Amino acid sequence: MKVVASAPGKITLYGEHAVVYGEPALVASIDKRVYVTCIPRSDGRFRISALNLHVPGVIVTYSRDGEIILETDYGRVLSALSYINEGLRITSEYIGERRGADIIVESSMPVGAGLGTSAAVTVATIAAYAKALGYDLKREEIAKLAWETEKKVQGIASPMDTSISTFGGVMYIRYSGSNVHMERVKIGSEIPLVIGYVEREAKTKDLVQRVYSLKQKYPHIVEAIIKTIGSIVEEARKALYEGDLVRAGELMNINHGLLDALGVSTKKLNELVYAARAMGALGSKLSGAGGGGSMIALVLRERVQDVSSAIRILGGKVIDTAIGGKGLVYESVERS
Ligand code: PMV
Repeated sequence: MKVVASAPGKITLYGEHAVVYGEPALVASIDKRVYVTCIPRSDGRFRISALNLHVPGVIVTYSRDGEIILETDYGRVLSALSYINEGLRITSEYIGERRGADIIVESSMPVGAGLGTSAAVTVATIAAYAKALGYDLKREEIAKLAWETEKKVQGIASPMDTSISTFGGVMYIRYSGSNVHMERVKIGSEIPLVIGYVEREAKTKDLVQRVYSLKQKYPHIVEAIIKTIGSIVEEARKALYEGDLVRAGELMNINHGLLDALGVSTKKLNELVYAARAMGALGSKLSGAGGGGSMIALVLRERVQDVSSAIRILGGKVIDTAIGGKGLVYESVERS
């Protein structure tokens, strides 16, 4: 069977990093997606092509002794590929069958910009591979396997990215142990956002580790910051429900200040965040793991041009996308 599955990227409205420690987060899918095509092979080998994941040339990976070896032109193992590799391994183990496959990955969003591409790649790969081998996994199962994959690759990971990429929409999410609690967020008015991004300087894994180390060093201080971010999420949920965008914006600003305090913002991200406010945004913050990557600004229609221009002038890119895109979709399933 040839299967094409797609999964969306995401932005975190409030609560990244704190979500790793059991606090809630508000997260939204976007209408930019990663597409994964899977065609099973009969020779037990895996061939992965990910031409637009910043990988020059075709990446060919072959299994030796049942392991997938990832090689690039430069002999480097790219991080997006480690999610594919691990996702395939975990899925094989779960369904109890291991067959080789051609995997083709394409992305309609910039990779490594903090838009949750690694989760989208993981979700779409797991879904396409299982389906191509004839297994109809439930969404809950796919989300769980994708979360396991992220934990394996990153060391520490919350289920936030993988859950939103699987289910889509605007969600309130928190977890405890292996229990994931997710609710659709009711919103009183549209959430008008401008999303900007800059080159990423650090990986999610390292940023999560940085917060962990800071927490080890100053447990009382960092735990208080994490708890406060949790309170911001609860308050923001109410503000969004009531359609109170002024309050929602202020809460974004506070959230950003605390993320900066945790050491995950950068000079460039701060510049974009402050420029957006100077140009009339109701609020702005980094979105995702930080270390570069994306930022969001809550902006009323009449200020969108000004805020977007400010982001561009400072060297950021503006991504034109709507929030609340569909979760996992099987784009096509063909018998071959
Ligand atoms: O790197 P991103 O944009 O996918 O964001 C990761 C979000 C964190 O809260 C920092 C980590 C996690 O596992 O939730």
